[in-house]
Amino acid sequence: MKKANNTNNLKRGINRRDFTARSVLGIAGLAIGSNVQAQAPAKNLQPSALTAKQDSEKRKLGSLQVSPLGLGCMSMTSGSYNPPRSKEEMIPVIRGAVDLGVTFFDTAEVYGPFTNEELVGEALKPVREEVVIASKFGFDLGNGERNGRNSKPEHIRQAVEGMLKRLQTDRIDLLYLHRLDPNVPVEEVAGTVKELIKEGKARHFGLSEVAPATIRRAHAEQPVSALQSEYSLVQRALEHEVLDTCEELGIGFVPWGPVCRGFLGDKFNEYSRFSEDSRFSSVPYFTPEAIQAHMELLVLVRQWAMRKQATPAQISLAWLLAQKPWIVPIPGTTKLHHIKENMGACAITFSDEELKEFRQAFEKIALVGVRPAESALVDQ
Ligand SMILES: NC(=O)c1ccc[n+]([C@@H]2O[C@H](COP(=O)([O-])OP(=O)(O)OC[C@H]3O[C@@H](n4cnc5c(N)ncnc54)[C@H](OP(=O)(O)O)[C@@H]3O)[C@@H](O)[C@H]2O)c1
Repeated sequence: MKKANNTNNLKRGINRRDFTARSVLGIAGLAIGSNVQAQAPAKNLQPSALTAKQDSEKRKLGSLQVSPLGLGCMSMTSGSYNPPRSKEEMIPVIRGAVDLGVTFFDTAEVYGPFTNEELVGEALKPVREEVVIASKFGFDLGNGERNGRNSKPEHIRQAVEGMLKRLQTDRIDLLYLHRLDPNVPVEEVAGTVKELIKEGKARHFGLSEVAPATIRRAHAEQPVSALQSEYSLVQRALEHEVLDTCEELGIGFVPWGPVCRGFLGDKFNEYSRFSEDSRFSSVPYFTPEAIQAHMELLVLVRQWAMRKQATPAQISLAWLLAQKPWIVPIPGTTKLHHIKENMGACAITFSDEELKEFRQAFEKIALVGVRPAESALVDQ
């Protein structure tokens, strides 16, 4: 029954579009209740504007076509930013994303571990042919524990067999190396993925958090379709060399952490504090000093949200989309109403003047606990 409903929703494009437009209007209204100094009013988006954007502005990662925003599924099961959620709660969220026009879904073997891929596989099974699934290998997960990195060819092959089963599919559309294994040359990793692509078990090759020199070496062995690294208004270390390398080689870029783990979604404020066992307590830009310092940036984002009749999350995502046409952010969320809100970012544009003005303002704000520019030249 659910399968039929979903497929019908996908085919009934007009209904989906109407739903999306209404949702964005409704959600932008919700933001008015948040703890803002400069409050963002409801965005006055016409359904036609959204329709045009979502349907005509599919983006390309190399030759892989995807929706302009993807969905990061990590926090649904990993317990990183919230307690793990049940499949019963999250399957409707993932299927709701498909109905809203999202065709690009991000998971990884290590999220859970394994349970995130199981969730994504089950949720997307009824619409498998309409969506792009990205997953990542690179860790030794023996006994369900994370035991360091492992990208030996035989381990990659074993990991991919597990992924295919958990994702209930015969191919991984975008297969990423999650983190470079210092003991395995990247050419060997790329060569293994090349064979998997020849065998039909993977379609495209991706890298995550690697330096330009490593991207070049891997790309020479097997063309890379996408690089996934952290990029947002807060975390901008890779803006120059890394993005330039992607542009030169025709590689798409997938920012993870695009709403700065919720900070740019106005989820936290200067009074936010985290317990020692929280993932946030180990993130250097979530210390009390860093949050305090970054409130100035958040206030600026709220001001732009007012100006563009949008929400802070929408401004943060629209700004990323405006940097390059081959950038596809993958905001993570456990909430369908946040997916609706985030998709509204696709209808927000910035003129060159506005982009310049915004950048001049945010570059004056001192950031704390963020990656230094030189870190972009080092494999993470
Ligand atoms: N390659 C890598 O090494 C790597 C590392 C980390 C993550 N990732 C991938 O990238 C994806 C995204 O990164 P991320 O999840 O770390 O960071 P993110 O997308 O910047 O932030 C996720 C957090 O933001 C909140 N959020 C999302 N939309 C919001 C909105 N409109 N308003 C308010 N809050 C909002 C979510 O809370 P709610 O649940 O309350 O909406 C969630 O806690 C992950 O899901 C994962 O697939 C990759």
